[in-house]
Amino acid sequence: MTTSDPDPGAAVTVASTRAELRKALTESGAGRGARVALVPTMGALHRGHAALFDEARSRAQLLVASVFVNPLQFGAGEDLSRYPRTLDADLTLCGQHGVDVVFAPSRDVVYPVWPPAVMVDPGRLGAVLEGASRPGHFRGVLTVVTKLFGLVAPDVAVFGRKDYQQLVLIDQLVADLFMPVEVVGAETVREPDGLALSSRNRYLSAAERVSALALSRALLAGQAAGPSGPNGVLAAAEAVLASEPGVVVSYLSLRGTDLRDAPSSGEARLLIAAKVGTVRLIDNLAVQLC
Ligand code: PAF
Repeated sequence: MTTSDPDPGAAVTVASTRAELRKALTESGAGRGARVALVPTMGALHRGHAALFDEARSRAQLLVASVFVNPLQFGAGEDLSRYPRTLDADLTLCGQHGVDVVFAPSRDVVYPVWPPAVMVDPGRLGAVLEGASRPGHFRGVLTVVTKLFGLVAPDVAVFGRKDYQQLVLIDQLVADLFMPVEVVGAETVREPDGLALSSRNRYLSAAERVSALALSRALLAGQAAGPSGPNGVLAAAEAVLASEPGVVVSYLSLRGTDLRDAPSSGEARLLIAAKVGTVRLIDNLAVQLC
């Protein structure tokens, strides 16, 4: 266990084993009445994560962040090996945003048995949208989140709405398995031009970054077309995407807020996944139908 003092943030305790994590939690007051918040991450932290930390900090006395690139949620041919790993910079950002403890384990600490014998099945919702493009992805996400909840025992856990399907599935995980943790969704943080912050944005070339703006533009066009109903929403978003040849759409989908089916009225969610060059991006926005 080490303690870093990233300037100008406060000291962050870094735990890399389960025993170190237990010790750090105990010494920080967990179990003695301090409300504990957890923000699970895969590192390569940016302002979007900082907003999650700020949200979590406002809800708890003790703030834990995990930094773990979870191999179980990457499929064959996905970018596990080139996923950015920037622990020193991550610790600095954690220190600046009030994180008390960073859990940064190796694979063997999280998965003493590899591949794991027991995994969490996300059910049917795990096989659509992102799950259809990335088979096994949500099984990996729900398994690691369950492990992190077991290790940290947080009172509250904060996730970004940019990964909207992930948030819905984690909500369902907690409800179905009676986990005593409150799940909070935090709004997507965007660049001034609309691009949703993502650890993968750093792989976009300058030209690809311009093309990538079509995702948020399409969502906004769809949102503005809400009063014209579901077909109008999809047509407006499709028109924007069709005008940008650099974007290869994987899916564009309008669903109810629980992602189960397409509503004809009320609150809905418009979701996009697309490849820009070799980079796969996702984004989503709330839509109010007539
Ligand atoms: O959203 C992410 O960064 C990951 O899916 C998560 C929740 C940290 C699980 O590895």
